[in-house]
Amino acid sequence: MEGDRLKKALLTGVGAAAPTRILTNYDFEKMVDTSDEWIVTRTGIRERHVVEDGMVGTDLALEASRQALREAELSADELDLILLGTVTPDFIVPSSACILQKKIGATKAAAMDVVAGCTGFIYGLATANAFIRSGMYENILVIGVEVLSKLTDYKDRNTCVLFGDAAGAVVVQAAPPDEKRGILSAFLAADGNLANLLHVPMGGTVDPLTPANFERRGQYIKMAGNEVFKSAVREMGEAATLALEKAGCSPDELTLLIPHQANIRIIEATAKRLGLPMEKVYVNIDRYGNTSSASVPLALWEARREGKVKDGDLVLLVAFGAGFTWGSVLVRL
Ligand code: ACO
Repeated sequence: MEGDRLKKALLTGVGAAAPTRILTNYDFEKMVDTSDEWIVTRTGIRERHVVEDGMVGTDLALEASRQALREAELSADELDLILLGTVTPDFIVPSSACILQKKIGATKAAAMDVVAGCTGFIYGLATANAFIRSGMYENILVIGVEVLSKLTDYKDRNTCVLFGDAAGAVVVQAAPPDEKRGILSAFLAADGNLANLLHVPMGGTVDPLTPANFERRGQYIKMAGNEVFKSAVREMGEAATLALEKAGCSPDELTLLIPHQANIRIIEATAKRLGLPMEKVYVNIDRYGNTSSASVPLALWEARREGKVKDGDLVLLVAFGAGFTWGSVLVRL
């Protein structure tokens, strides 16, 4: 982007939150026909956090957002826009972004949900980048939050071991065009032909929730795991490569790759495609499972807290998810 006179979008604050209740692989051994050994070997997951009854996504989003705003030294009423990635909103109507806008007191902010499966946060961040570069907004809060435990069928061993609940948030602020830090490139893609590989069949207008329908357990996530796996490996590789290409960067310039945490084998395949050693890849799937939209900002928050990345470092965020959707953001922190 040499000679680019548009504003830069700078990440000035990061926050995250996870519920305290933990379900381990051993807990699942008591619920379905599975084993710790199978789950660890096939997915890399050891435990995941799940909400207690009564806690909703915007509670987690509020905690993560407050942290991000504190770090950015910005008050909620200075926000212009809230973009909230989720597939597990508090309500179907209105958006969780509006619920959060009220909870956090962002009185001047426009607010909308971004529904893009596990790519929801990346879609939100790329959208924030576009709003800032266009000059329309200066201060944007981007969140990824999920309470997937509410859409998980704890009788289905194919899916129930995979998912967890969490939130992550970043504050994105406008900076002058000559700023060296900030978002360097973003790439988004989608393919609706793959919609049936991962979906919640009921609860929309095609098959509304009715008492008679519940017996089919269609209110829960259904997934063709192996097909999802194959397409995820392809899409994560493409997204990672294209964001780097767009910015004219090579993989060895990266301080850290922060991939969506869906399966350790998908993460390893993405690292291999980029020729990156696993020391340069952030992994926390063992402790959280797949937290969908929350996974990338949660991992970014942890990586910063652990000192694995600091201001000035080049970091590639990449995700795929239901839809299918995939995307990436290359950022100099
Ligand atoms: N414990 C024990 N056995 C199991 C379990 C389990 N928890 N789950 C499945 N199996 C069995 C299957 O029933 C099957 O048995 P069979 O051969 O007797 O039929 C066998 O294990 C192999 O099943 P596969 O599906 O081929 O196993 P695979 O190696 O593909 O691993 C997994 C399954 C972990 C789901 C993998 O396919 C995967 O991670 N896929 C991607 C999932 C993903 O990323 N989803 C998130 C998408 S993003 C979003 O928007 C939410």
